[in-house]
Amino acid sequence: MFSKLFGQKREQATVKNFHELYYYNHKQTWTDTYWMGVPAEKCPLDMWIYQEILFSVKPDLIVETGTYRGGSAFYMASLCDLMKKGRIMTIDIDHPSDLPRHDRITYVKGSSIDQNIIQNVRDAVADAGVVLVILDSNHHKDHVLEELRLYHSFVTKGSYLIVEDTNINGHPVNPKYGPGPMEAVDAFLAENQDFEIDSTKEKFYLSFNPRGYLRRVTS
Ligand SMILES: C[S@@+](CC[C@H](N)C(=O)[O-])C[C@H]1O[C@@H](n2cnc3c(N)ncnc32)[C@H](O)[C@@H]1O
Repeated sequence: MFSKLFGQKREQATVKNFHELYYYNHKQTWTDTYWMGVPAEKCPLDMWIYQEILFSVKPDLIVETGTYRGGSAFYMASLCDLMKKGRIMTIDIDHPSDLPRHDRITYVKGSSIDQNIIQNVRDAVADAGVVLVILDSNHHKDHVLEELRLYHSFVTKGSYLIVEDTNINGHPVNPKYGPGPMEAVDAFLAENQDFEIDSTKEKFYLSFNPRGYLRRVTS
């Protein structure tokens, strides 16, 4: 309705302009974003979408690749506290010494595609009911595609496989990056029918994860 009034082209141009402004001015925006004092490299509009997804899915286990400073894991642990449910397993090749401590968070050090790490995740998933996965580590296509192939089966029906930073390589930002998360999603969806893109999660116009909210539709 609003698109009709505003004009679709004008709407698309406005969203793209704001996305570029927000992304390239990162020292003021996404690299200066905190959850309770801990850096979280996320757009707050996506963090709100996370809150809506977590409340509706109520996962027992959230697996995150790419911990960075722990802000996203800490944010999700705080939401789990409010829901009195859920824990987070977060994986990174590099763990700084000042990661936030929280009973619901387990930090795992290693590469997300290492077989020993995958076995750790498999063991944790075996004890869990509802599982949600977030891929936010190395953003090159080959790595993300390997993660998608290794982690997708952990996601339970109705839950989400979230692929972060699908906006790079010209979607619409950082056009010289080279094949990245969105290209990995496209390749994955061409070979897998268990997931569909939930574009309703892009409702706030600005998302760093366009086409990156994948919902599992099969058991
Ligand atoms: C974009 S940051 C993660 C941001 C974090 N999830 C947040 O929202 O604050 C990417 C992280 O991936 C990690 N990383 C890079 N390659 C990796 C790999 N092969 N396995 C696991 N983590 C990796 C980096 O060390 C870095 O901390």
